[in-house]
Amino acid sequence: MREEAVIDDAAVVARLRSAGCVFAEDEAALLLAAARSGQELDALVERRAAGEPLEQVVGWAEFAGLRIVVDPGVFVPRRRSEFLVSVAVGLARVRAADGRAPMIIDLCCGTGALGLAVAAGLAGRAELHAADLDPAAVACARRNIEPAASGDAGRVTGHVYVGDLFEALPGGLRGRADILICNAPYVPTGDVAFLPAEARDHEPLVALDGGLDGLTVLRRAAADAPAWLAPGGTLLVETSDRQAPEMAAAMAAAGLSPAIRTDEDWGATVVTGRHPGRIAGS
Ligand SMILES: C[S@@+](CC[C@H](N)C(=O)[O-])C[C@H]1O[C@@H](n2cnc3c(N)ncnc32)[C@H](O)[C@@H]1O
Repeated sequence: MREEAVIDDAAVVARLRSAGCVFAEDEAALLLAAARSGQELDALVERRAAGEPLEQVVGWAEFAGLRIVVDPGVFVPRRRSEFLVSVAVGLARVRAADGRAPMIIDLCCGTGALGLAVAAGLAGRAELHAADLDPAAVACARRNIEPAASGDAGRVTGHVYVGDLFEALPGGLRGRADILICNAPYVPTGDVAFLPAEARDHEPLVALDGGLDGLTVLRRAAADAPAWLAPGGTLLVETSDRQAPEMAAAMAAAGLSPAIRTDEDWGATVVTGRHPGRIAGS
């Protein structure tokens, strides 16, 4: 509850509109709800007017019906990734048919939103392991996943690790993943300059830059994924439409059975690679 208004509600809308915020009324309502004092409201409005993503300013994002904590400097989960989540939940439900809690790995987890949303889609009956290279993302993911793991309602067990792709994970997870999500950066280096300023200025380059053709991190993930997937488990990654055939080829080269799925409503493309039932090359 705000103690005193330094700027009133109409002034908040006007300030946001003059800064170019298209949804000034909606954003003002969220900032007004987030501020606990007039001074804090001033500060939040100025951060937003300066171009910081709304989710980082208010400290949370809505994703797949969940309220996800978003710390400053951490990648804001994109709503189009709800398509990847819906595909993953469908595959995980099949794996859960024998009564087991599916094991989910969320690599390049950022806030942890995707892994958490898959676990929520399984009514919390999941074993979730998330990891990221960026310590700020790891701290944020812990703020999201640890309460979900300790909550009374959920039965999710959750762990968050820091490190480069699979190097972050305990060796005991090898060969066990039913669902392996890797929503890594996939913007080609040359296109990063054309991203909206909100992303360029407030999300770390390591979260955006996917290398020369955008697939550098994802190719590494595909190459090592078979060793971490359970027989019949699936790797899921997001790419652009244009990158999807190349990504599917990388999965096939690693010994996975690839498929490309698109959703026009979300404008999203997901490439899946199913483990055939034995470790590639064995
Ligand atoms: C596009 S963001 C996606 C975050 C999250 N998966 C989501 O969808 O909201 C990519 C994330 O990958 C992480 N990342 C980039 N390279 C990585 C690597 N080699 N190993 C682990 N994480 C990495 C970044 O720190 C960033 O959090």
